[in-house]
Amino acid sequence: SLVPVSELLKHAEAGGYAVGAFNCNNMEIVQAIVAAAEAENAPVIMQASQGAIKYAGIDYIVALARLAAERTTIPVALHLDHGTSFEQVIQCVRAGFSSVMIDGSKLPLEDNIALTRRVLDVARAVGVSVEAELGKIGGTEDDISVSDRDALFTDPEEAARFVRETGVDALAVAIGTAHGQYKGKPELDFARLAKIRSLVKIPIVLHGSSGVPDEDVRKAIGLGVCKVNIDTNIREAFVAAARQVLADNPKEIDPRKMLGPAREAAIGLIREKIRVFGSSHKA
Ligand code: G3H
Ligand code: 13P
Ligand code: ZN
Ligand code: NA
Repeated sequence: SLVPVSELLKHAEAGGYAVGAFNCNNMEIVQAIVAAAEAENAPVIMQASQGAIKYAGIDYIVALARLAAERTTIPVALHLDHGTSFEQVIQCVRAGFSSVMIDGSKLPLEDNIALTRRVLDVARAVGVSVEAELGKIGGTEDDISVSDRDALFTDPEEAARFVRETGVDALAVAIGTAHGQYKGKPELDFARLAKIRSLVKIPIVLHGSSGVPDEDVRKAIGLGVCKVNIDTNIREAFVAAARQVLADNPKEIDPRKMLGPAREAAIGLIREKIRVFGSSHKA
């Protein structure tokens, strides 16, 4: 059965590695995530965004994840990625997600704390773990000037207060990563991450990790990151392989001929990430 993310992160924290959290939208990507984790003998987190839920349907996502978890001995979690409302979180809990993220990062601090607490009250009662976000992670299209960084990045003292007042299981922080593809090389604020970690004794989550150099991801893991989110790199690998099939065979009409290689490419990419995160052989 699906396990809460908190359970996986407890072991990751103790073992000094991170668990990969991979976004899924369809059957092929769900299968790729579990096949890759199985091949690496790694615990794994499948996560679905609100957009993924809208695309595939909440019951399809849960059914796929449950089946995948039933068919394997490695621990698998199903997590809501960037839930932005109490209603969305509750729908996922009811549908069978084992973990949720409540993203109140766009709200004023007090409101983010209040919303996260409200989610925790319900999630605790049913054994679902909760990730929250403090600081604004944003997208690579947002042009962030040096002076903006202080306003957008997670404030370590605020993080300490946030965790103390909410009791949340894991915290996503803004330290210079962004969702999507980077234009140049991302500049991570490792000093800030170290400061946050010294004040916050719960697992830290790194979002926007596609495009972050492997050595920077490893460094972040060394500083307390226990969950690393990857979406864009899976999309790139999946679609590149599908595109190649269509380019080589313009008359191809069998979706399996396109999606099979796409799934294989996703497996390869996810296995590489799992190795970087140090979670191979930790299942
Ligand atoms: O955090 C963003 C994830 O990559 C999900 O993206 O909202 O397009 O599904 P999405
Ligand atoms: P990337 O798309 O940059 O990998 O970010 C994924 C993410 O943070 C999902 O929450
Ligand atoms: Zn994210
Ligand atoms: Na990214």
